[in-house]
Amino acid sequence: FTLMLAGCGGPSAANGSSKESGYPKMEIKLSHVAAENTPKGQAALAFKKIVESKSDGKIKVKVYPNGQLYGDEDEIEALQANNVQIIVPSSSKLAGFDPTFQLFDLPFLFKNDDELYRFEDGTAGKELLSKLESSGMKGLGYWPNGFTHITNNERPIKKPEDLKGLKIRTHGGGLLNDVFSKLGASSTKLAFNDVYQGLQLGTVDGQENSLVNIETQKYEEVQKYLTLMNMTRSEYVVATNKKWWDGLNNDTQALLAKAMKKATEKGREVEKSDERKALEKIKSDGKMEIFKLTDAERQAFIDAEKPVMDKWKKKLDEDIIDSILNQRK
Ligand code: LMR
Repeated sequence: FTLMLAGCGGPSAANGSSKESGYPKMEIKLSHVAAENTPKGQAALAFKKIVESKSDGKIKVKVYPNGQLYGDEDEIEALQANNVQIIVPSSSKLAGFDPTFQLFDLPFLFKNDDELYRFEDGTAGKELLSKLESSGMKGLGYWPNGFTHITNNERPIKKPEDLKGLKIRTHGGGLLNDVFSKLGASSTKLAFNDVYQGLQLGTVDGQENSLVNIETQKYEEVQKYLTLMNMTRSEYVVATNKKWWDGLNNDTQALLAKAMKKATEKGREVEKSDERKALEKIKSDGKMEIFKLTDAERQAFIDAEKPVMDKWKKKLDEDIIDSILNQRK
């Protein structure tokens, strides 16, 4: 992203020199489905604060959390129609544009935040974002959610067989369907803002998400068991409308890019502290029984998922996946 901006010092040929410099009076709508009190919610508010103060209030950013403006079902269409200028879906929700957006769902691909952020900040991360451009969108960066953990109502999950017969809600994608079917479970896509009700009514038996989402959505009210898995990662793509972005003058693009970078740092800080805090809160509430896999127990899941990893590595952009695997060597 920074690289792209390096070429934006003066009026670019594509943008023409007719655009005024400085900041025009405008309003940017940013919509997302999570609570405010999450890494994404906090990153969005940091973005708003920076943009509004650095533009002396000329550019206003209206943040709509909790799916208030658009939900999973309609936010992408709304972005393409420029009814909203920024959305922040989990990457897999963009799989319809390119299957590689599911790479965060590859089981046990990333070992920790550092590995993940190195990918996002490097050339392969930028390459993945560029895959949105042919669909009228532009990826501005990644914001963190967290490694995912499974809750359910039937039984404690400690080994792969424990998932047998369970119906698990996911954020979608064929890769996750394979991840769960490998464990004898079925999976179904459900809009995030409908998950609580789905769990409550028993439409689904369980779900997987970051601890912050599990806590802020109050799944403990409708779920009995939580297993700390770290099996997949939920990560967001910050997406904008490409035509709208290309129409902005260089000063505005540069300000938004800078604010995005700072907001990403904020999101990463919050993810680091709040995943831990969410677990403490869930523990102290005492409503769900919590299980942490031992190394040996986790290995059984890694072994069970190996065929899924092998199959999907080939279905996604192999260069991108290889660059992630190679950075560890
Ligand atoms: C989900 O749908 O599980 C999450 O990606 C929701 C979110 O955006 O935090």
